[in-house]
Amino acid sequence: MTKVAIIGAGPCGLSALRSFEHAEKKGEKIPEIICFDKQEDWGGLWNYSWRTGSDQYGDPVPNSMYRYLWSNGPKECLEFADYSFDEHFGKPIPSFPPREVLYDYILGRVKKGNSKNKIKFSTTVTQVIYNGSNFEITYRDKKNATSSTDTFDYVIIANGHFSVPFIPEYPGMKAFPGRIMHSHDFRDAEEFRDKNVVVLGSSYSAEDVALQCHKYGAKSVTIAYRHNPMGFKWPKGMKEVFHLDRLEGNKAIFKDGHVQETDAVILCTGYLHHFPFLSEDLKLKTGNRLYPPKLYKGVVWQNNHKLIYLGMQDQFHTFNMFDCQAWFARDVIMGKIKIPNNSDIEKDINKWVSIEEKLENADQMIDFQTEYTKELHDLSDYPKIDFELIRKTFKEWEHHKVENIMTYRNKSFPSPVTGSVGPKHHTDWEVAMDDSLKTFLDQPKK
Ligand SMILES: Cc1cc2nc3c(=O)[nH]c(=O)nc-3n(C[C@H](O)[C@H](O)[C@H](O)COP(=O)(O)OP(=O)(O)OC[C@H]3O[C@@H](n4cnc5c(N)ncnc54)[C@H](O)[C@@H]3O)c2cc1C
Ligand SMILES: NC(=O)c1ccc[n+]([C@@H]2O[C@H](COP(=O)([O-])OP(=O)(O)OC[C@H]3O[C@@H](n4cnc5c(N)ncnc54)[C@H](OP(=O)(O)O)[C@@H]3O)[C@@H](O)[C@H]2O)c1
Repeated sequence: MTKVAIIGAGPCGLSALRSFEHAEKKGEKIPEIICFDKQEDWGGLWNYSWRTGSDQYGDPVPNSMYRYLWSNGPKECLEFADYSFDEHFGKPIPSFPPREVLYDYILGRVKKGNSKNKIKFSTTVTQVIYNGSNFEITYRDKKNATSSTDTFDYVIIANGHFSVPFIPEYPGMKAFPGRIMHSHDFRDAEEFRDKNVVVLGSSYSAEDVALQCHKYGAKSVTIAYRHNPMGFKWPKGMKEVFHLDRLEGNKAIFKDGHVQETDAVILCTGYLHHFPFLSEDLKLKTGNRLYPPKLYKGVVWQNNHKLIYLGMQDQFHTFNMFDCQAWFARDVIMGKIKIPNNSDIEKDINKWVSIEEKLENADQMIDFQTEYTKELHDLSDYPKIDFELIRKTFKEWEHHKVENIMTYRNKSFPSPVTGSVGPKHHTDWEVAMDDSLKTFLDQPKK
């Protein structure tokens, strides 16, 4: 019997488990599956942890999410085709939920099946090698402090790529009297109440960590971009300046001449694709981009078709794209999709990479990833979902952000699965301090 290992039980690993379960329900014989996750429970980044650094076993904590994190894109864009928000919550809910609500939704789908008994929790994969005919996987059971090795025919890499921080150094950091941290270790904006904060970066973490600090009472927030500013209309108390030059004492000195006294520097400088457990010949080496090379259909490792990567792209689309990838991967593993010859694989990868390299703005990037996801969708029996509506929603969302970065999360969008429109949330995001599921769902009756 074919044996499949899945490394990671975050959204991607759970998509993989769900895809096999879907086939099994249709009466197909599925492979033997073992999923490994180094955390105590499933859900990946969405399984909030207060811990930073290493866990009680000395293993690096993968979590990067923080208190008061709200979805930064409309939930309708990530909705599962086979499990709508309406089905999970029993009613339409607003379009920008906080973390706990999305966590509940992700788990709701898998709790309906029997995937959990396929997962070995608190188990870290420490080595994967290909011996010419199959994979030898070594894993460490952290609770019992034991290591084991097992062989598999296929390996699905679903360990995420927003867990290992990229940490640059700037002159003056060693002598800085305040706090320097990466967004990976950011847990609660309350810590920065009444403080002057400098945030480095110009992507989603920089945007959201800066807004969080402002929302929870920082005295000032200065965002330093390196290449392109985000350029939003920031509220009073926030500004965007050009690139940090150095720190001198408690002063941050920027390349545009700006000087800012600061208590804390938060490095929102992104993450590394990090696979310390993979042998070099199996390792994806890429930055955070929309089409990492060497992956056929963004999924199958070009040099070994029994190695599958899920969710390694930079992400506009998330959960339903992971599903389309997982369904495709399942059909490759189950022999329903045939991988073409090397030259056709090369051509296909090059086609996507060369389009990706010419993309200039967010609308084009949304189009690119929508086209990619649609192509994958058409290759499997992943249920119907309206990707054209998702494309339109993403573009409207981008424009709402440009109009007003403080209010874009108050907007509502229609579901690509059920068509129902998310009701307006009872409290505007800017003043919604409680991010609990209970408060969020407590929509007053009209
Ligand atoms: C701060 C932050 C906020 C985000 N907010 C949003 C959002 O609002 N909306 C959205 O759609 N997306 C958001 N994302 C994107 C996020 O990447 C996806 O939503 C999703 O979590 C990716 O799923 P994944 O399964 O690929 O990775 P992860 O969620 O990272 O899960 C990977 C799993 O692999 C496990 N693992 C890692 N290494 C090993 C190992 N060696 N052995 C065993 N297990 C291992 C980890 O424990 C983890 O459970 C956010 C990301 C970050 C960093
Ligand atoms: N739900 C939410 O609200 C929320 C919040 C946070 C994050 N997220 C998600 O988390 C994921 C990761 O986002 P991310 O912003 O952490 O990573 P990212 O998108 O990869 O961006 C990394 C940023 O770091 C900057 N950078 C890299 N090296 C630098 C250096 N030496 N000095 C200054 N800047 C440097 C880059 O700038 P250059 O462009 O100049 O290279 C870029 O702006 C995304 O999927 C995002 O959606 C979501």
